Amino acid sequence: MNQGKRVGIVGAGNVGATVAYSLAMLGSCHEIILRDNKIDVAKGKALDMSQAAAAVRSHTVVSVAESMEQLTDCDVVVVTAGSPRLPGMSRDDLLMINAKITKEVIGGIAKYSPNAIVIMVSNPLDAMTYVALKESGFDRNRVLGMAGILDSSRMASFIQEKLGYGGGQIRASVMGGHGDDMVPLPRYSTVAGVPLTDVLSDNEIEEIVDRTRHGGAEIVGYLKTGSAYYAPAKSTAIMVEAILKDTKQIHPCAVYLEGEYGYSDVVSGVPVMLGANGAEKILEVTLDDEEKAMFARSCSSVQTLIDTLNEQKFFEEA
Ligand code: 2OP
Repeated sequence: MNQGKRVGIVGAGNVGATVAYSLAMLGSCHEIILRDNKIDVAKGKALDMSQAAAAVRSHTVVSVAESMEQLTDCDVVVVTAGSPRLPGMSRDDLLMINAKITKEVIGGIAKYSPNAIVIMVSNPLDAMTYVALKESGFDRNRVLGMAGILDSSRMASFIQEKLGYGGGQIRASVMGGHGDDMVPLPRYSTVAGVPLTDVLSDNEIEEIVDRTRHGGAEIVGYLKTGSAYYAPAKSTAIMVEAILKDTKQIHPCAVYLEGEYGYSDVVSGVPVMLGANGAEKILEVTLDDEEKAMFARSCSSVQTLIDTLNEQKFFEEA
């Protein structure tokens, strides 16, 4: 069905490699091309994954681009390249380092895979999605950030843990940026269709909301030398699949806002319809005053990062 589809993955570290593995196991595309400065490591992983694909009778082949020039004509490119988050480091500490890496990578994508849909995964996620959009010159439907699926999945898993039932039937909803002031939405979260607010107390919900906001840091605290990758990678693969298969399904994704929810020239996580053209539609759900205030705080945090980039004349440098 997806014969001929090519997915590029820039950064073959834990997240990038696990996205590739996930897609290869599903046979989501014909070819996955890994691009990483550690070329031999990428080659080893590519061979290993191609062999795993053969084991499950998947037709996907995983190969390596030794330079951005070889990352040609991809339908989707996932960007995980960047410095990872280490203990004690906020996602924002990574801002300038990863903005420079993103600028370079996006320049290559725009040149060699000019029709690709780009999915950003590097942190700080929303700001990097903004950088990718500005540096690519692509229309906004072709530049998305992965975070909402991850944050919603974390919330769903915490709900399941708290309830002790309902696994696989929980729909959790998180909007806003991928930062500590993300916007978990208990009002839009359900267990087998039953509103969360009917099955958990306010205090229990508050605990879940708080744990969701710090879900990434909780894992960094255990891993110590890096951050989470299984759930981030699977969440990314879900977006890639929805685009390649043109499913038109709704997922929370980071996109550039042009008036939606009252915001413009900023990136934030909102429900998005994913299809062959990327972010094909943005859904505007009704937020109450408290939710609107949380969304405003989250957008303003992302705006602060964009302001920093502007102050540093980041977008003016060649
Ligand atoms: C996470 O939330 C590091 O942002 C990444 O796990």
